[in-house]
Amino acid sequence: PAPLRVAVLGCGAVGTEVVRRLLEHTTDFSARTGAHLELTGIAVRSLDAVRDPVVPRGLLTDDPAALIADADLVVEVMGGIEPARTLILDALRAGAGVITANKALLARHGPELYEAADAAHVDLFYEAAVAGAVPVVRGVRESLAGDRINRVLGIVNGTTNYILDEMTTNELDFAAALRQAQDLGYAESDPTADVEGLDAAAKAAILAALAFHSRIAFSDVSAEGITAITSEDIASAAQTGHVIKLLAVAEHRHEADGRGGVAVRVYPALVPVEHPLGNVRGPFNAVLVEAEAAGTLMFYGAGAGGVATSSAVLGDLVAAARNRVSGGKAPSESRYAELTPLGADQI
Ligand code: HSE
Repeated sequence: PAPLRVAVLGCGAVGTEVVRRLLEHTTDFSARTGAHLELTGIAVRSLDAVRDPVVPRGLLTDDPAALIADADLVVEVMGGIEPARTLILDALRAGAGVITANKALLARHGPELYEAADAAHVDLFYEAAVAGAVPVVRGVRESLAGDRINRVLGIVNGTTNYILDEMTTNELDFAAALRQAQDLGYAESDPTADVEGLDAAAKAAILAALAFHSRIAFSDVSAEGITAITSEDIASAAQTGHVIKLLAVAEHRHEADGRGGVAVRVYPALVPVEHPLGNVRGPFNAVLVEAEAAGTLMFYGAGAGGVATSSAVLGDLVAAARNRVSGGKAPSESRYAELTPLGADQI
C-alpha cells in the first residue's frame, strides 16, 4: 500500500518522544500496520527554539494548516484549546484520522470533535489524554463496552501525586516538589492546571463520559486542588495510617425516575496506606473501575512524562493506521445516554 503521511502538531516533551520512536522504530511500525508511516512534518510555534537533536530541523514548520491538508494521520500534542481545536476539526473534515493527547480540549469540546470524526468516517483516538501510558481509555471504551460501569475512581494527575509523595516521603516543601515535577517533564506548561485539580478534572470528565456514555464535560466536574495542603496535614494523616491523595471520582447514581445522574469530583482525600491507591507513588497513576459484570478492575502505571506518554500516542497511531489500511473505523462516542450531571451540592 501507499505510505501513510503522518503530521505531528507540537514538539514538547511528548512530541519529541513520539518523533524519536517513530523514526527509530520505523520498520516495526510498517510491520504492525501494513503501511510505511512517513513523518511529513512537525508543526511548532517557533522554528528557532532549542530542540533535541533527534528532531530533524528540515521537518519543522510553522504552518500547521498546510501540514494537515496533506496528511492521512495527524498527531496533536500541542495542547491548549486553540488553535488545537480548529486544526483537529480541519484535519477530521479533510478526512485525516486524528490522535490527540489533549485532555483540556476533549473535556470541553469532545462532542463536537467526535461528531466531526463520525461525519468524516475517520478515527479520533485519545489514549494519551488520560493517565499517560496507562491504557484506561481503551479499557473503558472497548474492553468494558459490553458491561455497565457504576464508578470510576483514581489518581489521574502525576504531578500532584509526585508532589504529595515527595512531601510525604522526603519531607520536601510544596514549591521544591513542584519544581522537581516540572524539571522531570510531568507538569503542564502552566502547572496551575495540575495543582488546582483542573487537569485531573478534565481527565475525570473524559473518563465519566466514556464510562457512562454521557455528555459529561469539564464544567460538570467539581474540582479542588492541593495548594492548601500543608506538611502538617500530611503528618497528621500519617499518624492515623493515611496518605493524602488527589482523587478523581465519577459515580453513576440511579435515580428513582429510572434516568440516573452522574456525579464527578476531584478532591484531596485521606486514603488508608494499605489501600491500593495509597501505594501509588511518584508520577504514577491508578484508576479503579467498578463494573457490574467485571467487578473491580485496576489500571496502573506511568501517568505522566514524555517517554511513557508517547507509548499511548503511538499505540493510537498504530490503531488508526491499521484502520486506514483495512478501511475500518473505531466506534465513536457521539451517541449518548441521557444522564443528568449532578451539581456539587448533590455529591
Ligand atoms: N501534567 C499531567 C500530569 C501530565 O501531571 O499528570 C499527564 O497528563
